[in-house]
Amino acid sequence: MRVTMIGTGYVGLVSGACFADFGHVVTCVDKDASKIERLQAGEIPIFEPGLDKLVETNVREGRLFFAVDPKEAIASADAIFIAVGTPSRRGDGHADLSYVYAAAEEIADLMDGFTVIVNKSTVPVGTGDEVEAIIKKRRPDAEFAVVSNPEFLREGAAISDFKRPDRVVVGTEDERARNVMRELYRPLNLNESPLLFVGRRTSELIKYAANAFLAMKITFINEMADLSEAVGADVQAVARGIGLDNRIGTKFLHAGPGYGGSCFPKDTLALVKTAADHGTPTRLIEATVAVNASRKKAMAEKIKKALGGDVSGKTIGILGLTFKPNTDDMRDAPSLDIVPALQAAGAVIQAYDPEGRHEAEKLLTDVDYKANPYDAVAGADAMVILTEWDQFRALDLDRVKSVMKTPVMVDLRNVYKPSEVRSKDFDYTSIGRP
Ligand SMILES: NC(=O)c1ccc[n+]([C@@H]2O[C@H](COP(=O)([O-])OP(=O)(O)OC[C@H]3O[C@@H](n4cnc5c(N)ncnc54)[C@H](O)[C@@H]3O)[C@@H](O)[C@H]2O)c1
Repeated sequence: MRVTMIGTGYVGLVSGACFADFGHVVTCVDKDASKIERLQAGEIPIFEPGLDKLVETNVREGRLFFAVDPKEAIASADAIFIAVGTPSRRGDGHADLSYVYAAAEEIADLMDGFTVIVNKSTVPVGTGDEVEAIIKKRRPDAEFAVVSNPEFLREGAAISDFKRPDRVVVGTEDERARNVMRELYRPLNLNESPLLFVGRRTSELIKYAANAFLAMKITFINEMADLSEAVGADVQAVARGIGLDNRIGTKFLHAGPGYGGSCFPKDTLALVKTAADHGTPTRLIEATVAVNASRKKAMAEKIKKALGGDVSGKTIGILGLTFKPNTDDMRDAPSLDIVPALQAAGAVIQAYDPEGRHEAEKLLTDVDYKANPYDAVAGADAMVILTEWDQFRALDLDRVKSVMKTPVMVDLRNVYKPSEVRSKDFDYTSIGRP
């Protein structure tokens, strides 16, 4: 099948490359000409494990193309995916749908013959109806169907998530569109990934409900971590103790500095807004949003406390800036709240992130970026682990201690065993553990 992706960001590029790998002929379009130029020159604009090889193979084998001008790719496509950003709208937290609607207008003007328009961007309930109305208005003659097909991939594991998903959700009532979607995802039959056909509005809600539930689960264990600290319990053992109950499950029960990233913060806000607009407030999600926001502030206080309450003039070495490991994505990363709060209190920040530096530099100023973890903690009064990159899991603690000014470690990801670090005479603080 001929597939066109409108938007070649995380989702557009990964989905496009994976569809090409399934054997479809894919063109990834982006209005950002420099991004397309880099891709055409064989350069991958984001860090995502395995993506460089996947793109290279499929370009070489003539199944994956990149373009700025969408004209040919839209006219020739069987299916056109909208994979543009849906950031939070300033002021009210609603999803900003201007990119989605602009893409719909472009598609309307250029499409030719029966076309399935698939919305992969995360969009509030009813957006599919609006996209359909936009296209109908501009092209009353056109034959098309608008489908919702939300994406559930996780950055850092995006390719395996796309190729071996827990499920694929497809929202449409149109039989022809259903057949196109079945054909597109047919290679997944081998893995027996369920293809769940639902109504379009239901599909749109499933995506928000999934993200809100996961954000709530993380926030729940974060609150249990605070309680564990207060009562002398170990939150990791609590997480295991509850997670082994199949009704709860072990995933997303890792206490930390609060969720961030390109999806949970904006999607929880948008769900709260949609629910309020419909007169059915989602109080659990409202509380989740509020608790998570205050948590990031609390983390800066925790670091200050580990340093005796006053960080003015103190040097803090931060390990990890991205919102999670194996990505260079800095969107809504906890570091964006924590680092400025420490700077405002007078701290001097040195930092190292294996892949996030070029993005971090645009967002975090007055930070002394270092080339490795040991340089980041050299001369520091405290070391803070903010992102659990694998390379921080087995640091040479003797070396760390020897280069630091004082051996204070704040481990906001519970990477280390308290007994192990304390046996080396570190003053060690972690999350929810004695
Ligand atoms: N990043 C994730 O992990 C993830 C996971 C699941 C779902 N999503 C959802 O997928 C959507 C896309 O997210 P992303 O992280 O890939 O965004 P992104 O910002 O990385 O990429 C969006 C791209 O779309 C391009 N674009 C915008 N309008 C365009 C147009 N009219 N024509 C061509 N290109 C256009 C932009 O230049 C940009 O490169 C969002 O709705 C997001 O919520 C993201």
